[in-house]
This record gives sequence, structure tokens and C-alpha cells, in this order.
Amino acid sequence: MVNVNHSPSPATFWTQANALLRNNLTFQKRNKKANIRLILFPLILCILLVLLQYVIDTQLDKPKFKCGCECPKSDICDESEKVCGVEYSDETQLVTCAIPNPTEWPPLLQLSQGKWYPAVFTTLFTAQNHSFGQIVSNNMFPSNFTMDLSDIKGSLALNVLGSESLAEDNNFIEPAFTSELPIYNLQTQCPQDNIAFPAQFQIGGGNEQEDTHTFPIEIGGRALTKEIKCANGINLWRNSSSDINDEIYKGYQSDDPEGQINDIVSAFDFLNSNEDAFNVTVWYKSTFKGSNNFGPTPLLRIPRSINLISNAYLQFLRGPGTKMLFEFVKEMPKSATPIKIEIASLLGSLFFTWVVLQLFPVVLTALVYEKQQKLRIMMKMHGLGDGPYWMISYGFFLALSVIYMVCFVLFGSVLGLKFFTLNDYSIQFVFYFIYVNLQISLAFLLASFFSNVKTATVTAYISVFGTGLLAGFLFQFFIQDSSFPRGWIICMELYPGFALYRGLYEFAQYAVSGSHSGTDGMRWQDLSDSSNGMKEVLIIMSAEWIVVLFVAYYIDQVLSTGTGKSPLFFLKGFQKKHLSPFKKPGFQEQGSKVLAQMDKPDVIREREKVEQLLLEPTLNHAIVCDDLKKFYPGRDGNPGKFAVKELFLAVPRGECFGMLGPNGAGKTSFISMMIGLTEPTSGAAYVEGLDIRTHMNGIYTNMGVCPQHDLLWETLTGREHLLFYGRLKNLTGSVLTQAVEESLKSLNLFHGGVADKQAGKYSGGMKRRLSVAISLIGDPKVVYMDEPSTGLDPASRKCLWNVIKLAKQDRAIILTTHSMEEAEALCDRLGVFVNGNLQCIGNPKELKARYGGTYVLTMTTSSDREKDVENMVQQLSPNANKIYRLSGTQKFELPKEDVKIANVFQAVEIAKRNFTVFAWGLADTTLEDVFIKVAREAQASDTLS
Ligand SMILES: *[C@@H]1O[C@H](CO)[C@@H](O)[C@H](O)[C@H]1NC(C)=O
Ligand SMILES: *[C@@H]1O[C@H](CO)[C@@H](O)[C@H](O)[C@H]1NC(C)=O
Ligand SMILES: *[C@@H]1O[C@H](CO)[C@@H](O)[C@H](O)[C@H]1NC(C)=O
Repeated sequence: MVNVNHSPSPATFWTQANALLRNNLTFQKRNKKANIRLILFPLILCILLVLLQYVIDTQLDKPKFKCGCECPKSDICDESEKVCGVEYSDETQLVTCAIPNPTEWPPLLQLSQGKWYPAVFTTLFTAQNHSFGQIVSNNMFPSNFTMDLSDIKGSLALNVLGSESLAEDNNFIEPAFTSELPIYNLQTQCPQDNIAFPAQFQIGGGNEQEDTHTFPIEIGGRALTKEIKCANGINLWRNSSSDINDEIYKGYQSDDPEGQINDIVSAFDFLNSNEDAFNVTVWYKSTFKGSNNFGPTPLLRIPRSINLISNAYLQFLRGPGTKMLFEFVKEMPKSATPIKIEIASLLGSLFFTWVVLQLFPVVLTALVYEKQQKLRIMMKMHGLGDGPYWMISYGFFLALSVIYMVCFVLFGSVLGLKFFTLNDYSIQFVFYFIYVNLQISLAFLLASFFSNVKTATVTAYISVFGTGLLAGFLFQFFIQDSSFPRGWIICMELYPGFALYRGLYEFAQYAVSGSHSGTDGMRWQDLSDSSNGMKEVLIIMSAEWIVVLFVAYYIDQVLSTGTGKSPLFFLKGFQKKHLSPFKKPGFQEQGSKVLAQMDKPDVIREREKVEQLLLEPTLNHAIVCDDLKKFYPGRDGNPGKFAVKELFLAVPRGECFGMLGPNGAGKTSFISMMIGLTEPTSGAAYVEGLDIRTHMNGIYTNMGVCPQHDLLWETLTGREHLLFYGRLKNLTGSVLTQAVEESLKSLNLFHGGVADKQAGKYSGGMKRRLSVAISLIGDPKVVYMDEPSTGLDPASRKCLWNVIKLAKQDRAIILTTHSMEEAEALCDRLGVFVNGNLQCIGNPKELKARYGGTYVLTMTTSSDREKDVENMVQQLSPNANKIYRLSGTQKFELPKEDVKIANVFQAVEIAKRNFTVFAWGLADTTLEDVFIKVAREAQASDTLS
């Protein structure tokens, strides 16, 4: 049928690689939707980021986040007429404003907050020399408010001003002058007549009243009005600094709203100061919780208290005329700094980690699918070597990953994300390239441990999301924490997901700083920056890639079915070849069983034939099994079991050998050994002269298998399956197409578009036929068919039989079946297997003759005539044996040597005259009878021994 006259040489490495590559491409073409979805994922994410960026940009463009503006004349005006500047801005807007000439603010003391009435603020002091401390601290507060309108700033500095309002962390605007709270002047005594305060002084415009002083304080040209109230400033002596500590501690405002608060403004310890030395400790006030939880920054109000005490000391030394004036505090000028939030760079590390990790489940799932569907082993059995498999699969996933990553970077760059555009593309390429390689190796490694696609998919996705979250919300803090030991970070980066995150994080950092300062992102020379983790990450990932790839290959060789190499397979060359497995325990007791086989002359003849063949090998015999054994060691307390015992078998080319046997007889174990799924425990088998223990790869190129369960790609069509396996068998060009067509036609898979339907949509029978077609394509010399006709309708079965009959002409076929009809129709010889032993072997006729040897006479009469029938049979043959009786129907076995058929007819004719015979029949033994008999005998003798 298939490719009758062409006998191809084994496929080369490149032919196999080509076949697998084409098959993968077709498979991926079928997977179009999933692939497009995969590629779209980063695109959608990039678009999402761009949209988010747009929303944020529009928000930041609102006046709230810009320097404040106002219409100078009326309430409403055009945008162009507005004047903008720091004076119209609130604290948030101030950040963005340009301030070329910051305002000079009078320095203030930070006063305790509270409704002080009458306002009294305390400072505490202590010193080693009490009188010294007393004298100096008496110089602190002036006795009255001094004002010289010709030098406002200078004269304000002669007073001691303070505010309850909280200081900002910059001094572009002094909140004391913009808030509602009054400014107090601390003096030793407020005027008696005016002890109940209304405003005493006022800063800014307004009419000058009797006891109100106004001072033109300007911010950016805008005059402010501010009241100055009188407050008593008093100094209190304390015996020690620990007393001061104690008092301040007791008055500290706690979170408790009822919490205590005192009016202590500041405190001083003069220590060992005297005329010659000024040595002082200053306590400053910070007992406020600001509106934000970080609290205010009172540092801006400290300088005044230091100036105050220094001035007091100066006056003690040099008399009251000497003053060190502290006139104003002024920030440095600054340019406008609009707020920019580069969202892709901020969220990028987390999002992009997910994008890149996304590939991992894809690769893993594809690998596990091949394993779950046993396609890998199926391909192997049809000649696909490990080399081409690894090269093509790896290369294929690498190409997929690279395309994916290129699309990802491309999308990001086109959409203008700084994350991509600012950093050197060559660094990005190297980083992603190394990472995807590591990821693919890892998928190969982990695929060995999964056997179920669903488990693998779920596990992979959980790990993807978990890794992203852990990295984004835990690992990142470790990176940012400069005190965290670097060694530990490197340890964490050994986990590839974290290494990936670190790399992306570095890209993001460089992109953020690049876009803020308008410079480039990461360049190659930046790798040597001490804070840049990219170099370590690249080294770690490259090293891991190599190690993981090696380990993955090693584990694949050890674990994967079909190779079943020992964990030390690479040391094989050094070991002595094939230690005798007979040394294993459990073999000694077998000696007696050999004798038990002696009464099977056909089995012994087969054994002699095999021994003969081994001495003078001929090429006629495609399969020769020499004392093949398979022992399954006991597990969980169960005793070990021989699945196949002492099997000698020679199958010449052109023969179809049928294996019969009850379930669990060892047929499948035998076939598994022959197709390389398991290794024989002992003994050897030769296929086309090649030893199955050592030359399985050579055998595969000449072998076809139709496994018991169909191993097919769900999404590939029948034709594509045959094309792939045909290519693996080194068919090319028109020979290949012709072979595939013929194969499809002969198995009735050609018409009605069946050939181009996906195998997943085939009925069970169609799949079965496709499996048979696969096993026969490429003219293999040896074909194993494990129950090829199960699930077929009679017509298809007939067609299948014709195909097999034609196919067996120039090859050896080993076929297992439970259908005696099939065995009789197809097989030239049969062997009956029971409990791992070959019980008999021969062609169907011989077997029937040998084990049959009887006719079966069935006769139905009325029940009271049973005795008469028995008598009749007794006369025909004294050795007859009754095997069945039920209400008048009886069955007898008549030995063939005793009876002639003619005599039986005669006897029945006579009987019919004597009594009524409802029905009768005489049958030769069928193969089924033989099978049942052999199986029963074997089982009986087994239980006896
Ligand atoms: C304490 O300080 C006063 C004033 O400076 C000084 O006259 C006196 O000698 C000091 N006493 C001691 C013990 O140093
Ligand atoms: C400070 O010391 C003096 C004398 O040593 C003592 O009389 C006074 O009670 C002390 N004051 C405080 C607040 O402990
Ligand atoms: C200032 O006082 C502290 C504490 O008493 C002392 O340790 C330090 O030596 C003094 N410094 C000077 C310059 O006297």
C-alpha cells in the first residue's frame, strides 16, 4: 500500500529537524488565535499605560497643580490677562511656581499651640552657675515693642516675634503671615492699660490707629495685613537639665486629643558657660502633629531661638547696646518645576514583569501537552532523535519569545514610553534575550515534573502573578533600602523572576531620572555604577541559563519514558557493560519453572530456532527475542512480578505474528520493551539485527507503532500527521505526497474531507485508522500494532484488515488482539500468552488441531429424553465428555480420532426415529475454544506450582 517500491534510508538530523519544524509551524498556525492573543497582551498593556499617562497628564495640567493665577482687576478675566505668581499660589501650587526672587521673612519663634489667654510663653533654663544663667536669660526678652518705621525689618529684629502656626518645609511663604493665627511679640511685660488684647500692632496697609502700627510687608508686590499681639515671655530656672527634660516630657502633646500640652517655647542649658566660654544646649519645640502624619518641620523656626540666646550672651558680655540682628530668612530662588509623573516607569517594573513572565506558562504548557498526549514518545518511536527534538523545540520557543519581546519593545517605543525609548536598545535586547533563554530552559526543566497540562497551566500562572506581586511589593523595598545587605539581594536574584524584576526596575530608574533631567537612560557605561544592579543580574541570568539548560537536558534523559537512562548514563563508557541482571534477588527461584515449560514442544522448537538464528544470523528474520524477561519489583509490600518470562521468539519478514492472551498476560509489557518504552530486565531482542538495549535509536527509524491509545495532535489534520511522520521516515517531495495520499485512501480517510479535518474532531474509529496509517507510513520494516481494530465498525475493520494483509508482505508485524476472528484472518502465526509465558505458538490451523482435537455435538430434545441422547453419544464414542446441560439441551465433546462425521449423522438419523429432536448441531473447535482452553490450563498449572 504505502510507498511500496521505495525503501528510504534513515532520516538525517536535519531531515528530522525540518519535519519537526514544519509540524510545529502547522501546529502554531492552528493556534493562531492564542498566538495573536499572546502578542496583543503587551500591546494592550502598553496602550493602557499610555491612557493612564494621558489621564494623569490632564489632571496635572489643572490649575490645582500649576502656579496660582489671579485676575488683577476684576473677578473674571481672559486667560491672557491673568497674572500668575507665588503670591497667588497655595502651598501645593508653590512647588511648581517659578520664584526668581523669594520674599524676605522676619524670623519667628515656634510657639506652642493653644488658646493662651492671657498669652504667656515660658522658656526654661539651667546652668552650672545659677547667677550667670539668671543674668543671661534676663537679657532675652525686651520689655516693650520697638518700632522704627524707617527701618522696619531692622526694628522687627529687635523684637522677639513668634507664631503658633506650623512652619512649612520651605520658606517661600511664611504661614505665620498668611494664616489666621496672630503673631505674638514676646516681651517681659505687656502694657498694663492694654492687657486685654485687641490688636496692638498691624503689619500691612490700613489706617494707622492710635495703638496700631502697620508695616508694609510684601510678597511679590502684594501687601499683607498682619496683627501683632503682645504676649508675656517669662524665664524660669530649673535645677538641672533632667528637670527640664522631665517637664517637657510631661507636657508633650500626645495623639490623645485630651493629651497634655504646655506653653514651653524653648529651653536652654548653659552648662559650664561663663564670661570666657559660651556652651549651651537648646531644646526646640516639635510637639505638633501636622495635618499629614509626617508632622511639621519646625527646623525653620530654630535659628531664631539660637540667635536669641546668643544675643543675650553678647549683651551680658558687652552691655545692652550690643546686638547681633537677625533680620530675615530668605529661600534660594528656584525655577518653575511642573509636576511630571512618568507612569510607565513607575508601574513599569511590575507590569512589564508580568508581560515577560507571561511567556513562561505558554512554553511550559506546550511542553507538558506533548508529554501528556505522549506525542514526544510517539515521535521518538517513529524516528525523531533527541538532538533534533531539543534543537527545534528550543529554537522554536526562542523564536516565539524573541518575536514576542520585539513586539513588546516595539509597541512601547512607538507609543513613546520613556521606559523603552530612553534606555539603550542594545542593553534591552541583551537583557531580554538572556532572560527568555533562561525562561525557556526553566520551562524545559519544570516540564519534566508535570504530567498534566491543567496542573502545569494553573501552577505557572499562579507563579507568574505571585512572582510579580512579591517582587513589586516586597523585593523592591529591599532594593531601595540601602542598608539591606547586598549579598541577600543577590541571593534573591537567583530566583529568575526577581532577577527579571531587578533588571526592569533598573531600566525604570534610569528612565525616570533620564526624563526628569532630560538626559539619556541606561547606557553601557552605566553598568559600572555601583547602584546599578543590571550587571549582577546579567551575570546571574547567564550563568543560570547554562546550568538550568544542562540540568534540564540531564533530567529529561533520565526521567523521560522511552530513554529511561540511568542517572549516571554519561558515565556509561566507564562502567563494565551490562552487569548481569540475574544477580538481582528474585531470580533464583525461577529454575524450577523452566522444567514446567518442557511439555510445550512448539515453544521449545521456537527456542531452538532462536538459538540457531543467533549462531548463524540471517537477514530474513526481522525480530528475534532471546530469553527476554521483564521483572517488576515488588512495591508497598506486594511481591515482585514477572510480566514477561523467558520469551524466545523469531518473526521473519512477511509474517504477521498475533499475540493472544487474557488481560494482564504481559502482551503490552512485551511491546513496551520492543518499542523502547521500558528496558528488559534481562535477555535481548534484535530488530533487523539491532539490539534493542543499545541501538534503539537505529531501530526507531525502521519501526512503526500503532499504540493501544491514539496519540495524536488534536489540532492537526490526518494529512498533516501523515506528512510529519512521513518526513521523519525520510520521505520527501512527490514520494511523500503520494505515500500520504495512498495511505489515506487505503484506510478510507480520504473522502469527504476527512483527511483535512482536525484529528480532535475525528470519531474513535477514524482516529484508530489514522494511527494504523501512521504506523505504516514510510515503509517501516517492523510494525507493532496494539489492538488496532478496537472501536471499529465492521466495514472499517474489513478495510483495515485488507491494509494489514497487504502491508505484511514485506515486513514483520506483531499484532495483539482480543478478536479471534481478526487473529485468524490476519495472522500467519499465533502465540498465546498467559502470565508472561508463551503457552503455545503456531499457525491457527495447527493450534486448532492440537488443542481442539474434538467436535462439539449439541442436541436439544425434551428433558425426559436426555438419557437417550446420552446413550446415543456413548455408543458413538465411549470417551465423549458432557460439557453443558440445560433443560434438554446438551453439549458433548467427541474426540476426533473416535468418530467420523458420517457416523454422527447416521446416529442422529436413527435417534430421530426413536424420539423427537428439536435441533442438533456438530461443530469443529474454534480458535476461541483453543484460547480458552490454553488460558485455563495455564492458569490451573500456575496455581498448582
Ligand atoms: C558665677 O557667675 C557670676 C557672674 O558671671 C560670677 O561673678 C561668679 O564668679 C560665678 N561663680 C562661679 C563659682 O564661677
Ligand atoms: C532647686 O534646688 C534648691 C536648693 O538646692 C531647692 O531648694 C529647690 O527646691 C530646688 N528646686 C526644684 C524645682 O527642685
Ligand atoms: C560644653 O559642655 C559639655 C557638657 O558639660 C562639655 O562636655 C564640653 O566639654 C563643654 N565644651 C566646652 C568648649 O567647654
